[in-house]
Amino acid sequence: MSDIPSPRNERLAGKTVIVSGGGNDDSGLLSIGSGIARLVARQGAQVVVFDVSPGRADATVSAIEGDGGTAVSCIGDVRKRDDCRRAVADAESAFGSLEALVNCAAVLPASQSASDDVDDWHRVIDINLLGPTLLSEAAAPAIVRAGGGAIVNISSISSIRGMGGGAYTSAKGGMNAMTVEHAYQWGRQGIRVNCVLPGHVYAPMGDHPDEIRQRRRKAGVLGTEGTPWDIAWTVAFLVSDEAKWITGVLLPVDGGSTSTTAMPMHHYMLE
Ligand SMILES: NC(=O)c1ccc[n+]([C@@H]2O[C@H](COP(=O)([O-])OP(=O)(O)OC[C@H]3O[C@@H](n4cnc5c(N)ncnc54)[C@H](O)[C@@H]3O)[C@@H](O)[C@H]2O)c1
Repeated sequence: MSDIPSPRNERLAGKTVIVSGGGNDDSGLLSIGSGIARLVARQGAQVVVFDVSPGRADATVSAIEGDGGTAVSCIGDVRKRDDCRRAVADAESAFGSLEALVNCAAVLPASQSASDDVDDWHRVIDINLLGPTLLSEAAAPAIVRAGGGAIVNISSISSIRGMGGGAYTSAKGGMNAMTVEHAYQWGRQGIRVNCVLPGHVYAPMGDHPDEIRQRRRKAGVLGTEGTPWDIAWTVAFLVSDEAKWITGVLLPVDGGSTSTTAMPMHHYMLE
């Protein structure tokens, strides 16, 4: 896992943050949730790494502790309401309060078609949409008890541009709608709810052969590839008090790829 690109500071001191899907495997390729967990810990937050995989959760906790930060793992499945409640209870018992939640856990579908495999369609919708809904509903009362805070949902630009994602795309579109709904429902209670839409990032779900990575670099306005740190910096800002007047926002973080179309980009893609 690569070095955290932030100096140690107290920007998020006093905040406890749950990061669902915050685990990482040992392949050396950084996951987005692990990058988020490690960056917010570097900036002073206490982190609960909530992941279905014990090995992945422990890898992120070890990385944070090795960096001098504070984190605990909570093993659970976002589809299970009791697991979500346990993650919130763990945050409050370990650190006294819960100020923020990042919904990052997700899976990819086996097929683009619901008719081909209805069970897989339900699996993806359950993990990618029902899960963050249950976890947000579990976290909201605790965030109110803490005096207010923030929820950041990790969606995808596939929710606003067709790209063959099947149930994944539909679930992420639902997550965008859930974001504005929760921002509306909980705004008066001091909870800000925002959504980050990553473009193709060099992380496990975007880990494609070099040739494809090179092409998608060229397809972006900036001509560069995104990393988990680009998403983590955005989340750290949205969680921080610097974003205290930002809620209900769907923010693409994609090197500008959704700001243009294939037509003006075609000459760059031939380079
Ligand atoms: N990588 C990309 O290019 C990209 C692009 C757009 C959006 N995203 C989003 O970013 C997030 C992370 O992507 P990534 O590439 O790091 O993938 P990843 O597979 O490394 O991370 C997903 C994590 O979620 C966990 N998880 C899966 N099912 C779970 C469940 N039921 N309960 C709890 N945890 C569960 C996994 O164990 C894993 O740690 C996802 O929400 C993904 O949709 C990724």
